[in-house]
Amino acid sequence: MDWGLKNRLSRVIKPDGRTVMLAVDHGYFLGPTSGLEDAGKTIKPLLSHADALMPARGVLRTSVDASTETPIVLRVSGGNSILDEDLSDEGITVSMEDAIRLNVAAVALSIYVGSPNQKETLLNLARLVDEGQRYGIPVLAVTAVGKSMGRDARYLSLCCRIAAELGAHFVKTYYCEGFEKVVKTCPVPLVMAGGKKLPEAEALELTYNAIKRGAAGVDMGRNIFQAEAPVAMIQAVKAIVHEHATPRQALDLYNSLKAQTKGKKKPKIAGVTASKQELNRH
Ligand code: R5P
Repeated sequence: MDWGLKNRLSRVIKPDGRTVMLAVDHGYFLGPTSGLEDAGKTIKPLLSHADALMPARGVLRTSVDASTETPIVLRVSGGNSILDEDLSDEGITVSMEDAIRLNVAAVALSIYVGSPNQKETLLNLARLVDEGQRYGIPVLAVTAVGKSMGRDARYLSLCCRIAAELGAHFVKTYYCEGFEKVVKTCPVPLVMAGGKKLPEAEALELTYNAIKRGAAGVDMGRNIFQAEAPVAMIQAVKAIVHEHATPRQALDLYNSLKAQTKGKKKPKIAGVTASKQELNRH
């Protein structure tokens, strides 16, 4: 792997081999998603806690502070909308030249295996990888799941392996029963997609299960920014991903930070470093 590409990937996937990416790209086909109506306001307090931010180009330009040190994984596929019967009709929406101008650490594109546009989306991935190789930009393949498609280990292993075989440098997919098989048969790092909003305890359990079964981290959106206390939630997710916290420890941390934010009780701890002390006590 080329040095520049390796360097960019190492900004997203940290030295411990793990990452907590914050997905805020929903608007590219969903419009103003709940929690992202004012994307800048949502992103601002979360940005420094994320190992990487995943926006589409418009939100990056308008709503993310350009002085940020948080690496950007730019969504570069689209062309569909929630109004489409079949969401698979996506093309590449950002040139590699503009991605480089935006100083991104990586680019992300969805593939739709088993859909009417399977071939087009897979060839888009191959083209993007060629461009990425040329300029040293890693590519994240997102295994999008159409309304009628399954989310079992057999299907997701197929998607992830195809993405890796076509050259994706890392892959994002959903959690499923038998997730360890999906991870084992994918030769590049795999990050778990968050999915629809769950109660915080369940989202932390999901994160724990994915990490335990070999995920390199998460790329989570709604379960963070739609949480009652989003900044507390991202720190709790990070505690599982980077600090080996159990779901119980992470939930205690979430509740403690939430209380601190709301000023309901005296803060137990302050900041991420202190949160390690909190975890060590369990
Ligand atoms: C999926 O294809 C898109 O990247 C989503 O907009 C995003 O990943 C969703 O994140 P979450 O499901 O965690 O809200």
